[in-house]
Amino acid sequence: MKKILSTILIGLSGSAFAQHPLFIPDTLSGTNFNLTVHKDSVQVFAGPITQTLGINANKYLGPTLIMRKGDSVSLNVINHIGDTTTMHWHGLHVAPKNDGGPSSLIMDGGSWNPQFVIRNRAATYWYHPHMMMKTAEQAMKGDAGLIIVRDEDEAALALPRKYGIDDFPIVVQSFELDSNNQFMPKGMVDSIVFVNGTDTPSVNMPAQVVRMRLLNASGERTFNFGFTGNRSFYVIGNDGGLLPAPVSTTRIRLSPGERAEVLLDLGGLTGTRLYLMSYASELSMGIQGGPTMPMPPGSPLMNSPLNGIDFNILQINVSVPTFSPITSIPAALIPDTPLLESMATGAHTIYMEADSMNVMDGPFYFNHNRFDMMRIDYRIPLNSVEIWTLFDSTMVAHPFHMHDVHFYILDRDGHAPSALERGRKDVLLIQPAETVRFIAKFEDFADTTTLYMYHCHILMHEDDGMMGQFLVGPAYAEGYKALAADKNIMVFPNPAANELNIKVLDATPGSPTKIRISDVLGRVVYTGFVQDVLQITTQSWPKGIYTIVFEHKGETRFENVVVN
Ligand code: C2O
Ligand code: CU
Ligand code: CU
Repeated sequence: MKKILSTILIGLSGSAFAQHPLFIPDTLSGTNFNLTVHKDSVQVFAGPITQTLGINANKYLGPTLIMRKGDSVSLNVINHIGDTTTMHWHGLHVAPKNDGGPSSLIMDGGSWNPQFVIRNRAATYWYHPHMMMKTAEQAMKGDAGLIIVRDEDEAALALPRKYGIDDFPIVVQSFELDSNNQFMPKGMVDSIVFVNGTDTPSVNMPAQVVRMRLLNASGERTFNFGFTGNRSFYVIGNDGGLLPAPVSTTRIRLSPGERAEVLLDLGGLTGTRLYLMSYASELSMGIQGGPTMPMPPGSPLMNSPLNGIDFNILQINVSVPTFSPITSIPAALIPDTPLLESMATGAHTIYMEADSMNVMDGPFYFNHNRFDMMRIDYRIPLNSVEIWTLFDSTMVAHPFHMHDVHFYILDRDGHAPSALERGRKDVLLIQPAETVRFIAKFEDFADTTTLYMYHCHILMHEDDGMMGQFLVGPAYAEGYKALAADKNIMVFPNPAANELNIKVLDATPGSPTKIRISDVLGRVVYTGFVQDVLQITTQSWPKGIYTIVFEHKGETRFENVVVN
């Protein structure tokens, strides 16, 4: 209880308690990134030391990875945490096998070396583990970090981009610690707020336009960010890129997993002090961190005392300007063309439901189904444009996150999204009884076995099974049966190198099986018939995944093969 009270007092009275200088994580840049995740510990409060997970030299949180669009990068993740883990690049558009989902396990003592091209636009992304049932525990202990992608379009704009000088990483997390000062991954009384792993932080920012890259890396809490005295600021970018123009506002609400880049004009304020705050009193009921139902006096503490109040998060001391400061807000940023509803080729609907009677605490599921690693929830043909409709039938709000894509919100309860939500998103907060539709294109990467995840980014909900998975496959038609169901047709070898053999065991004399082979873009590369055995030379075919469709005994079946 002691820690809860002191944090509250700090939150309310600001300078009455010692502030700690904000930790600015070091950066790694170039094309080779080495991340060694290890057990560590930090003396956060008096008494027992807090067990953490550190990355490289850091005892808590990892370095900020600075990547360049178009670069081919190689990441080497070494696991020394004493447990199995994975590493996911949240927001990066990469192939399923590089995505670090729950099936890309890294054993304790082992390593994982994904390599891919950075296709994302300049924006702020992040990394964290995605271990089945342990994401909350591992990420909360400090196994996470920021990724900043830069590109030429962003570089051409007059924006602050000197890391730690006028461009600040701001990773905000709330926690509950137990009486031995250890993280409680499922703790709902999350009264401790860290920024970049610093408790009660303060930072010097120069008296000019500064940029902050806000990430809510909390397990459950939504923040309603603003500054002291309702000072206005500009949102310039969200999850997947810069907006077409800065949006002036006094609040930006970020649920777990969401990012925003903001510009704050501190010009002329040298020597003054203000705070980054959460105006949580303004959050609707049902959003974690917002006001909660009143409890009878004397009931045990079930909710964080930070819920529903306005509190300080980061003290900002305004210092003298730097040389050649940015002093104005650009009028325009990066144009963007959202996907249109008329482009859609498919649709899916997700109902968020509470298991049994636990409408407040969960577990929560999608469409009655608890996450099952053996179940493919959706097969999405490559290059589809899909509209997903989400409906929250629970009593709490959920930050819905999707891997692989960035999506555009079409509407919330039939209304167009606010300017702050009009850009490229990978997480959206859906509130109780709300219906949200978004549109996304599933392009570039197809796979026959490795899936992408979608889930609630409240990490305890995710760990409890509020997650599903989808396979982006070559252009197979919905409704076709996989060949595996028919033992009478054999395709070998798979993967194939120089040739592919197709053998039909139960051919009807005079009625050969028709085959059609297409590449991942749906282009037909081969058509023919097979009566008994057929050998196709694949030597000159570009490497990749191909789909063979068989018309055999009145049925259509398909099989995916890899040519390499
Ligand atoms: Cu940030 Cu699937 O996660
Ligand atoms: Cu993700
Ligand atoms: Cu949830």
